[in-house]
Amino acid sequence: MREHMYKSPWKSVVRLSATKQALRHESQSHPSHISQIPDFSKYSPTKSISELAPYVSPTLCAYPLQSKYLNQQHYYQNQNILEKHYLIKKPHPVSLSQLAQYFDDSTTLTKQKIVNSGNFVQQELVTRIAHKIHLLQTLPFNVVNNFHFSQVYESYYNIFERFRRYPTIKTMDDNAKFVEFLRGILSDFNSLNLPHLIMGALECKILDLYPPEKMDQIISSLLRARISRRLIVEEHLSITSNYLSGKKENTLVLGDIFQECSAIEFVLGAKAMCENFIRDMYFEGIKLPEFHVDGNLDLKFYFLPLHLKYLLGEILRNSYEATMKEYIRLGLEKPEPITVTIISNEQSFMFRVSDRAGGIPHDEKTIWSFGKSKELANQSLDNFHKLPGLQTISLYDYMYDKRKGGPAIHPYKFTSLEPISASNLPKGIHNFEKPLLGLLERSSRYKLGIGLAMCKVYAEYWNGDLTVHSINGYGTDTVLKLGNLMYHTDKLQLDKV
Ligand SMILES: Nc1ncnc2c1ncn2[C@@H]1O[C@H](COP(=O)(O)OP(=O)(O)OP(=O)(O)O)[C@@H](O)[C@H]1O
Ligand SMILES: [Mg+2]
Repeated sequence: MREHMYKSPWKSVVRLSATKQALRHESQSHPSHISQIPDFSKYSPTKSISELAPYVSPTLCAYPLQSKYLNQQHYYQNQNILEKHYLIKKPHPVSLSQLAQYFDDSTTLTKQKIVNSGNFVQQELVTRIAHKIHLLQTLPFNVVNNFHFSQVYESYYNIFERFRRYPTIKTMDDNAKFVEFLRGILSDFNSLNLPHLIMGALECKILDLYPPEKMDQIISSLLRARISRRLIVEEHLSITSNYLSGKKENTLVLGDIFQECSAIEFVLGAKAMCENFIRDMYFEGIKLPEFHVDGNLDLKFYFLPLHLKYLLGEILRNSYEATMKEYIRLGLEKPEPITVTIISNEQSFMFRVSDRAGGIPHDEKTIWSFGKSKELANQSLDNFHKLPGLQTISLYDYMYDKRKGGPAIHPYKFTSLEPISASNLPKGIHNFEKPLLGLLERSSRYKLGIGLAMCKVYAEYWNGDLTVHSINGYGTDTVLKLGNLMYHTDKLQLDKV
């Protein structure tokens, strides 16, 4: 038991929790030597660990050297603060219209509503993040001690501590400070959580640390919770911004985060982006597939623009990449065409992307996984390390630098650390989910193997789904369905903690 407490604060907590027995059994089925240095030759037989992950040395012991939250004292903190005070609270399921209007029927924004909204965000975020910290704590230690997961853990705990200590908001001045605080949280090293989560899952797959199906469930649940948290925060920033700019009526029901999107414009935007990727990958004058759009060309609907851009971008990208590969492989005169059909009814919208690129060469089960096969996970991980800004920076570098008087190193190319004032309050459309946009804009050279898995999480989040229908030797229909948010505004959307 002593050994437990010294080496694994997380396991110690698990020991106290109801789910403990099942998890202990699970962690025992894997070698779980927490202070053992992992065998990094498993990651890549050809590359040394210093080449693959030059930053990793601080995390090679049970407690990372500069860590604030992974240390012996933390056991006490877990038991007395997290468990006793926060895990007993349940997150509030909220609907989109509740979020925008703050629990009354009028769409008018008042000071009181802004202040209430601020306090709601503060309390809700503490509770939600506490539950996710707990989820990470219930994983075997050698999973969470993985470099990437421990970055996420640190980041979550850091958010938890900062929100937990935040004083009650009483006035608009308090709220202005809170908005600065929120903006800081959205744009500092927390933006790295998305790639770190996925890289952690890939490493676990390669090292056989955790059952892949369970890992997929955990990643999906963390991603869904992440969408909800960011939505709650962004909505508050957005209504504050509206109020301060004199717009007292929240006419769009959902603030400025959700915009009216023209389906065809987004489809054509995704097409243009894919064509650029293809030219970049091959050469400027390469023949491109003919592109057709049919169905409801006039469709306009309210949605999160960046989510729609991401979803269509990833799906079309798969079709373009496969079509070009087939074109070259078979030596065809020109690439086969790609057709997008837009379909809608009162409750949902559908985009069917049809290509003739020979079908999907994987089985139905693995294409939805974040790890796919070990070999593919290896390639994906390798490519993640090539993404700009990710290969050398760890949370510890960032924190360390900050102590020296400010972050000289930019933690991620997608983040923004410019000074905050009421006049440059972010509008949701520009700010929401920058890390996601960063993923979308990666070069086609860096295949991450996660496009479909990610899109499924996002589509399902918005009451839709993503399916593929592949006919071997012919082609693929990828069908994206999204719920009509205006139809579902009273649905308890943000219950996906
Ligand atoms: N329309 C398609 N036609 C043929 N194969 C496809 C199609 N869509 C997906 N695939 C196959 O499924 C695999 C998984 O797709 P997914 O988008 O999840 O990852 P990826 O494209 O390999 O990597 P990335 O993360 O860069 O998107 C692809 O590598 C490809 O082999
Ligand atoms: Mg893809």
